[in-house]
Amino acid sequence: MSALDDLAYSTCYLNGQYLPLSQAKISVLDRGFIFGDGIYEVVPVYYRKPFRLEPHLARFERSTGEIALRCPLDREDWRALIDKLIASSPAEHQFIYWQVTRGVAKRDFSFPADAEPTVFAMTTGFKRPGPAQREGGLTAVTRNDERWLRCDIKSVSLLGAVLARQFATEQGADEVVQFRDGMLTEGSASNMWVVKNGTLLAPPKSHLILEGIRYGFLQDLAEQAGIPFEVRPISRAEVHAADELMLTAATREVLPIVRLDGEPIGTGRPGPMYAKIRAGYDAAIEALKT
Ligand code: PDD
Repeated sequence: MSALDDLAYSTCYLNGQYLPLSQAKISVLDRGFIFGDGIYEVVPVYYRKPFRLEPHLARFERSTGEIALRCPLDREDWRALIDKLIASSPAEHQFIYWQVTRGVAKRDFSFPADAEPTVFAMTTGFKRPGPAQREGGLTAVTRNDERWLRCDIKSVSLLGAVLARQFATEQGADEVVQFRDGMLTEGSASNMWVVKNGTLLAPPKSHLILEGIRYGFLQDLAEQAGIPFEVRPISRAEVHAADELMLTAATREVLPIVRLDGEPIGTGRPGPMYAKIRAGYDAAIEALKT
């Protein structure tokens, strides 16, 4: 049985109905399909509880606001929907994925006057990063950032991210580290963190990166661990000369990058700042276990 067959039996939500994923269908005229005209979120679930759900809901509201997309569900509705999806799955750790598009309409670039937004949500089992990634680390390759200029919006138009990740995959690497005008932006689907002389550095929040939910979280973890934290533009040379490099994403938690373009970062092993942040991240997850 393929992974897709497995998924087919899981319960999803589509426009007010709960149904098996294999039975969920949308129109080919959906603007998500035709234009990538929609917003999405990915929320990790540990021990059957969503992790930092409120900031995800806030980011979703911000993204929909930025593209003037009306969502028929309010926060209360989302919380109830997410609880229901979690309950429908036997998995202890899950991912909730949802997306809302501008709905089904005759193909026309301008917003349709009367289309109902399409609301879709699903849950899948989450296999947390294992020792190979946590202790062995990831590899990455650098690339010029060729995405659009509103990377702060969590849009389902992800062709730029797809091409960036494929660039890494074709070189046998786990992720891409992107630069715009020589300055660090982020990964294809992750935020990047640089450690230099004991300080944790992050690129500024702007329209050039997505503010990950782990962005604020890592800031908190660094503070708790007494690690100095600095937000400023980071050059390509600084990334190559970093003592440590790491990434964060809902799907990857926090993971060290130990080789960049085939060269070791620092010692070529996960470093001490990563170890401290990792410990804080794990403790926050374990706190959900009752
Ligand atoms: N992506 N930057 C980009 C471009 C991303 O796509 C993501 C996450 C992040 C990290 O955000 P967060 O900490 O909220 O996961 C940064 C998700 C996981 C995805 O598209 O699957």
